[in-house]
Amino acid sequence: MAQEVRGVIAPGKNEPVRVETIVVPDPGPHEAVVRVQACGVCHTDLHYKQGGINDEFPFLLGHEAAGVVESVGDGVTDVAPGDFVILNWRAVCGKCRACLRGRPWYCFDTHNARQRMTLTDGTELSPALGIGAFAEKTLVAAGQCTKVDPAVSPAVAGLLGCGVMAGIGAAINTGGVGRGDSVAVIGCGGVGDAAIAGSYLAGAAKVIAVDIDDRKLATARTMGATHTVNSAETDPVEAIRELTGGFGADVVIEAVGRPETYKQAFYARDLAGTVVLVGVPTPEMKLELPLLDVFGRGGALKSSWYGDCLPSRDFPMLVDLHLQGRLPLEKFVSEAIQLDEVEKAFERMHHGDVLRSVVVL
Ligand SMILES: NC(=O)c1ccc[n+]([C@@H]2O[C@H](COP(=O)([O-])OP(=O)(O)OC[C@H]3O[C@@H](n4cnc5c(N)ncnc54)[C@H](O)[C@@H]3O)[C@@H](O)[C@H]2O)c1
Ligand SMILES: [Zn+2]
Ligand SMILES: [Zn+2]
Repeated sequence: MAQEVRGVIAPGKNEPVRVETIVVPDPGPHEAVVRVQACGVCHTDLHYKQGGINDEFPFLLGHEAAGVVESVGDGVTDVAPGDFVILNWRAVCGKCRACLRGRPWYCFDTHNARQRMTLTDGTELSPALGIGAFAEKTLVAAGQCTKVDPAVSPAVAGLLGCGVMAGIGAAINTGGVGRGDSVAVIGCGGVGDAAIAGSYLAGAAKVIAVDIDDRKLATARTMGATHTVNSAETDPVEAIRELTGGFGADVVIEAVGRPETYKQAFYARDLAGTVVLVGVPTPEMKLELPLLDVFGRGGALKSSWYGDCLPSRDFPMLVDLHLQGRLPLEKFVSEAIQLDEVEKAFERMHHGDVLRSVVVL
């Protein structure tokens, strides 16, 4: 029996989001219905609403979520009703060329539920990142459910489903940050702060936070930044070099997604250092760099999709570290809100007032 629940949809380009009744089908083969307990508001939800991702309106927004599996379809063996799970947008296929090369964190053929959720008039919804979790219940592919220790708060756990995982993974998976490294993070929103927390966790000796907003720099310190630079007032490349004996940082993580901040990252790293781009640029952006500098400075220029995470490996591990008091994920939750407050949360995000607003159901 399909069920009717409340969910937040983006009806059309730049139109305000609103709460609607949505129809969630029973899970088919390899699908699961999850009772959502919490879902964070991410910048990508705003991109969907603004038409910046694609035109497949109406969208069912929300994708940083945790909840309890309610029912599963045929052939589902990894999760069962009652399991506490974080939803992921990398349900690895096990068969694509990345998976077959033993690199499933790059899986090129991730899957989502086959059936569609709809409005009551039958209009098909496009779930954000194949999840759609600003809703009391959602239908996903069973592989999108990753079981973790239910002792963790759902509001905290859900954030690992996207931005926080992207930031931590940019540092420890893509950037390979390790004990004694110097790290600089440009842009200290939810993603940048997670990169700072990840670098701290990995044993970085120096973690330099760069932002144009002093409030963000103050929060960055509580996440493990050892130094802060306001790049609206100070040249961040000079400042990072000064803080690293004149050389630059071993790893620089760009968490804004703009050409000018990428260039700062490029020149703020030491010779043979690593740049990680985790901020997402928009289609019109272009980057120009002297090719000789690209060659002469050596090292690695990398991009980080979802923190190069493997949900089955990384989510339970990070939840355990959090429960042991070693990873302060609770600091990312700025406020708990209701389903009908998502539009307001977008405004607060836009003004830089919050790291994460989390819808708690
Ligand atoms: N790669 C991935 O898989 C992935 C996943 C989630 C989000 N993201 C992307 O990461 C980026 C950051 O996301 P977020 O949720 O942290 O956003 P956010 O809006 O919370 O944070 C952005 C931060 O950058 C700062 N900033 C803006 N312009 C700056 C500049 N010129 N110099 C220095 N700092 C500047 C802002 O003050 C803010 O603190 C976005 O582009 C988002 O789309 C990537
Ligand atoms: Zn694959
Ligand atoms: Zn997200």
